[in-house]
Amino acid sequence: MDYFDFKDGILHAEDVDLVSLADAVGTPVYVYSQATIERHARVFSEAVAGAGVGAPLVAFAVKANPNGAVLRVLAKAGLGADVVSGGELARALHAGILAKNIVFSGVGKSAPEMADALDAQVGQINIESEPEARTLAEVARDKGVIAPIAFRVNPDVDAGTHAKISTGKSDNKFGIAFDRALPAYALAASLPSLRIQGVALHIGSQLTSLTPLDTAFRKIGGLIAQLRAAGHTIQTADLGGGLGVPYDPALPAPPSPAAYGDMVRAATANWNARLIFEPGRLIVANAGVLLSRVVRVKQEGNRTPFVVVDAAMNDLIRPSMYDAYHDIRAVAPSGVRFTANVVGPVCESGDTFAMGREMDAVVEGDLLVFATAGAYAATMASTYNSRALTPEVIVCGAQHAVVRKRLGVAALLAAEDAVAWL
Ligand code: LLP
Repeated sequence: MDYFDFKDGILHAEDVDLVSLADAVGTPVYVYSQATIERHARVFSEAVAGAGVGAPLVAFAVKANPNGAVLRVLAKAGLGADVVSGGELARALHAGILAKNIVFSGVGKSAPEMADALDAQVGQINIESEPEARTLAEVARDKGVIAPIAFRVNPDVDAGTHAKISTGKSDNKFGIAFDRALPAYALAASLPSLRIQGVALHIGSQLTSLTPLDTAFRKIGGLIAQLRAAGHTIQTADLGGGLGVPYDPALPAPPSPAAYGDMVRAATANWNARLIFEPGRLIVANAGVLLSRVVRVKQEGNRTPFVVVDAAMNDLIRPSMYDAYHDIRAVAPSGVRFTANVVGPVCESGDTFAMGREMDAVVEGDLLVFATAGAYAATMASTYNSRALTPEVIVCGAQHAVVRKRLGVAALLAAEDAVAWL
């Protein structure tokens, strides 16, 4: 559920009409609904309440949307953060997320990033290999501190999602191979500057079935028993993120957070561990749209028309990168529908949002939105073709604020130093 609705024939983000917003801020622009973010955070937290020992930690996967305003909304809602870089760590702390509620994940943490995480006193560092455990142990020893760790274990389960966002198969780069977990824990136990506190997994993103998650969780449940039998203390179990969201209204909706919570409670009933969750997409995807204006409609003979919009693959890469579907809606639909190809101005055929899409008929100058663009969207934007970095706006009721400026070519040129010999 989201707070993007039509009022008097015009699409609104909460009480802000998108025609006026486009006039005020320009296009393309990402628009987030604060009430939607808050709602999703509440719905997910309620869905997993009562699972595991004590209150679960819901650690928002910052990679989905690292905008400071978005993180501040989630900090106020009491969420923690799952971070995968020094940059994300800095953003989470800056937004007021408590360090003890921050989990540091990632397959390639550098020693300086580890040092920053230890200085901040994050709640848990998820280790993905034995060499990483050794490096972290050295960094912690040099600082005279003890690092609280879990190993991310790769359960070798097919998440049934797009290959580029699948992470839990043994041929993916992520996590310790399931059959190497016991020796990895034994290594960590032998390193005095590491304190083992848990186990972690994450099998993939945009999952539309609970079955692979259930299978993976049950494998991890067995591993927890084995680890405890080997003398290790397992107090936390980090179940990752991954629950999918509806992108295409014609497809069945993915399982609800409530159904996910029920599955988790059943799968983890006897774990006797505090649970950590790392939802990203579920919290923010439906809380954002990419608002764009039609530059022109290119219709040749009786061929399918190309709707050329002012947003492009540099603003929203998901369709070109993952063949992702984003619903396309006119901001002021006339009621007429047509079939069109929707493309951006970038000089690549891959700069295509949709081919042969049945959609609201639009003409030059009309506004449209790409829906479900709050996750993995603005954060994956680039300046390819020397286009501006897309601005972001957050809406709360009738108010709006630009929370990232449009960074145009002047800003890009200012970041390029002159070379003495040129
Ligand atoms: N935890 C870890 C360790 C992760 O790697 C991820 C996502 C998450 C949590 C959050 O997963 P979520 O709840 O959002 O599914 N750019 C891609 C998605 C990449 C996901 C990477 N990892 C896309 O646009 O679909």
